[in-house]
Order: sequence, then C-alpha cells, then structure tokens
Amino acid sequence: MERESRRASDSMIEHIYQVRPEYLNAAGRLFGGKLMEWIDEIAGLVGMRHSNGNIITASVDNLRFIRGAYQNDLIVLTARVTYVGNSSMEVRVDTYVEDFYGVRKPINRAYLTLVAVDSKGVPRQVPLLSLETEGEKAEWEAAEKRRKLRIQRKKEGF
Ligand SMILES: CC(C)(COP(=O)(O)OP(=O)(O)OC[C@H]1O[C@@H](n2cnc3c(N)ncnc32)[C@H](O)[C@@H]1OP(=O)(O)O)[C@@H](O)C(=O)NCCC(=O)NCCS
Repeated sequence: MERESRRASDSMIEHIYQVRPEYLNAAGRLFGGKLMEWIDEIAGLVGMRHSNGNIITASVDNLRFIRGAYQNDLIVLTARVTYVGNSSMEVRVDTYVEDFYGVRKPINRAYLTLVAVDSKGVPRQVPLLSLETEGEKAEWEAAEKRRKLRIQRKKEGF
C-alpha cells in the first residue's frame, strides 16, 4: 500500500497560556519544568495529529532557555513536524512571550523526537511529510543532521 503523505500545516498547533502565580519558581520566573511540560504536550499532540494515533516521546534536544518569563506574561507555543523517519517524527516547538500588541520575543526552542506506537506499544509507520516551502526543506536537511547526531549519541550512550 502506498504510504500516505501529509503537510506540516495539517498538524501544526499554536497554543497560548498566561503565567499564573502557581507556575513561578522561587526566583519569580516561570518554572522551567512547567514550560517543559507544555512543550512535551504540544509536540505530542502534533505527533498524534500527523500519525493518527498514539505516540511516545523518545528524546528531547536543543532545549534552550533564551530568556525568562514572569507572572501574567502571555506564553505562545507553536509546534510543527520538521522531519519523519519510518516510525519517528521530529517536532520543533518555539516558545515566545507575546505582548498586548502581538509582538513576540522568543524564549525557547526545542526539538523532540516522537515515535508512533500501536496499541501494544510497538513502533508503527507514520505518513510521509510533503515539504511545501524552502524553509521546510531547510528544516528537513537540518533535521537529518540532528538525527545522525542522536543515533551517534545513542550508540555511544552519551
Ligand atoms: C522510543 C522507543 C519505542 C524506541 O524503541 P527502539 O527499540 O529503539 O525502537 P527502534 O529501534 O525500532 O526505533 C524506532 C524509532 O525510534 C527512533 N529512536 C529510538 N531511540 C531514539 C532516541 N533516543 N532518540 C530519537 N529517536 C529514537 C529510531 O531512530 C526509530 O526511528 P525510525 O523508525 O523513524 O527510523 C523506546 O526506546 C521506548 O519505548 N522508550 C521509552 C519512551 C517513553 O516511555 N517515553 C516517556 C514519555 S511518553
């Protein structure tokens, strides 16, 4: 059977939160673990949409905290598939603080690898990704390099 193909725009998600007092750490900033939870969640939802089923998070890399966020800040997360293998998908999640005029300042970027699994937890094949823009093609090429590094790291237990 021919492998189905999807666009990144078919599964991409944008979500917004407001930083509540219970999300702050002792230094009065958004707790990093809270942001990591949001990142993992939105990436997982994108993976489920792309693959029409359950996924698990295999790895998270390039999780880079660029600047902090504070109480009442509006936090925007955008997530899209950048690469697919056989059963795995790479999802890029960008996080911004958005002001009341819609101006966004990046606070984080992360790449997650999700693996689509069947009801027994066994990896299953995901649809291909059709690349529509030059930006998406460049992301795909960069993702191939990241994948090689991940395989190398896994081999070396690093
Ligand atoms: C992810 C997992 C299913 C991979 O199992 P595995 O035996 O290595 O499976 P495979 O070798 O068949 O690899 C399956 C895919 O995962 C990818 N993969 C495996 N380990 C990976 C890692 N550490 N980082 C990125 N990708 C990984 C492989 O490259 C492969 O991709 P492909 O099918 O697109 O080529 C397994 O390690 C696992 O269950 N981990 C626990 C995940 C989990 O519970 N997460 C918790 C949060 S939900």
